Amino acid sequence: MADQPLPFSRYLSANLVVLAPSAAALAILYGTDALAGRPALLAFLGIAAATMIVVQRYLGTLARFARFVSELSGEQEPVMPRLAFAPATEELATAAATLAAGWRRQRASIDNLAASAQAIVDGLPDPLLAVDRQRRIVRTNRAALMLLGPTLPDRDLSTALRHPELLAAIDSLLATTDGKYVGPDQVAVDLVLTGTPERDLTVHARRLPRAAADGSLALIVLHDTTALRRAERMRADFIANASHELKTPIAGIMGFVETLRGPAREDAGARERFLAIMAEQADRMRRLVDDLLMLSRIEQHEHARPDTEVDVKRVLESVRDLLQLEASSRKVTLELAVDPELPAAVGDRDELIVVFQNLIDNAIKYARPATAVKVDARPVGADRLAVTVSDEGEGIPAAHLPRLTERFYRVDNARSRRLGGTGLGLAIVKHVVNRHRGRLDIRSTPGKGSVFTVTLPIAGG
Ligand SMILES: Nc1ncnc2c1ncn2[C@@H]1O[C@H](COP(=O)(O)OP(=O)(O)O)[C@@H](O)[C@H]1O
Ligand SMILES: [Mg+2]
Repeated sequence: MADQPLPFSRYLSANLVVLAPSAAALAILYGTDALAGRPALLAFLGIAAATMIVVQRYLGTLARFARFVSELSGEQEPVMPRLAFAPATEELATAAATLAAGWRRQRASIDNLAASAQAIVDGLPDPLLAVDRQRRIVRTNRAALMLLGPTLPDRDLSTALRHPELLAAIDSLLATTDGKYVGPDQVAVDLVLTGTPERDLTVHARRLPRAAADGSLALIVLHDTTALRRAERMRADFIANASHELKTPIAGIMGFVETLRGPAREDAGARERFLAIMAEQADRMRRLVDDLLMLSRIEQHEHARPDTEVDVKRVLESVRDLLQLEASSRKVTLELAVDPELPAAVGDRDELIVVFQNLIDNAIKYARPATAVKVDARPVGADRLAVTVSDEGEGIPAAHLPRLTERFYRVDNARSRRLGGTGLGLAIVKHVVNRHRGRLDIRSTPGKGSVFTVTLPIAGG
């Protein structure tokens, strides 16, 4: 800490002030002849010399004290200087240092509080914005920046969310007459955020009792309801689809009943024909109801992982025996190849039978006549096994692959119905495989054929 020179005028005036009483005393002594001129002058010079030294030291100490105090407000605590020549400055400096240390501690704890408040806000999964009285964005959390982009702070809310209904609702929260809020203190608005992907949001906004230190007056939380809306739509679609699938055979059966009661009452040949069709329609309804029940049963316990050991070879052999007749009738050969080292899978035997029955049934149905359907089972890695079902059929265009496991999704509706399909088979497969913590992979080359691979965890893996 280098000492800066004192301004000369201050030094001079300080000396004059301190010297004034002694000069006056000497002048009076001299005036009353108590002291001769020479000794008076000598005394004055002596006093002046001593005073100048003391004043210089004293002012230097005071300057160091002032600098020390001004440095106390900085980031770091300064070293206390030597303050010998000015009485009480050392005590004052110690008191000031204690005060400054207290301030510094308080500032650190305020900084800590602000940081943890922001950390909590950032940790919220839903995007959050705070706007001030003028509707300017004054605070955001990480989720908001991810959803709406990084350039939010200090701009009007309308730059982030251009949604007239929402902006009007926020304006109503912030509206005042004669300094009093006149609107509601909370609002909720549903909106669709355009972009890819489009998102459904429910926005909840609430006015704080009074503005926060950063100016925040209204808190706006965006709740993403896309998944919820999609689930609602899917459920509605599912009920509509299932009803539609059932309506067709019911209408068919009712039509034939009418015909048999009326025009075809006496026609034995027609009766036989119609009854056969009615039986077929009833069978279709039965299959549909069976698949629906199966689906709902699997969905109900999808989260409970099965834990029994299943001999996959035996499962595949029994499915092959079950479908052998259907295959021969379409002149399709079933070729089963099981690795001799194949370990047991962890699973539910009955459900795995349903999986492979559906996949092999599809392969037979969608294969070209006089081709082979190959079923191959082998271990993969240390803890899984894979069963592959491949056919030489029409294949599936790539655009359909991602949606193939949706309920009632078919590449060719008429063809699937003609072949007796319900459109639920792959949805069931997908659910069972999920429950087994396995995987379903579909590869297909249009014109060549398709390969469905199910990967399952093995026992002890
Ligand atoms: N091996 C396959 N080859 C070609 N297309 C297939 C194959 N497996 C399934 N698909 C297509 O996937 C759709 C859904 O299959 P699935 O859920 O089993 O219903 P379904 O067989 O009752 O029609 C079928 O309608 C068909 O278009
Ligand atoms: Mg099927």
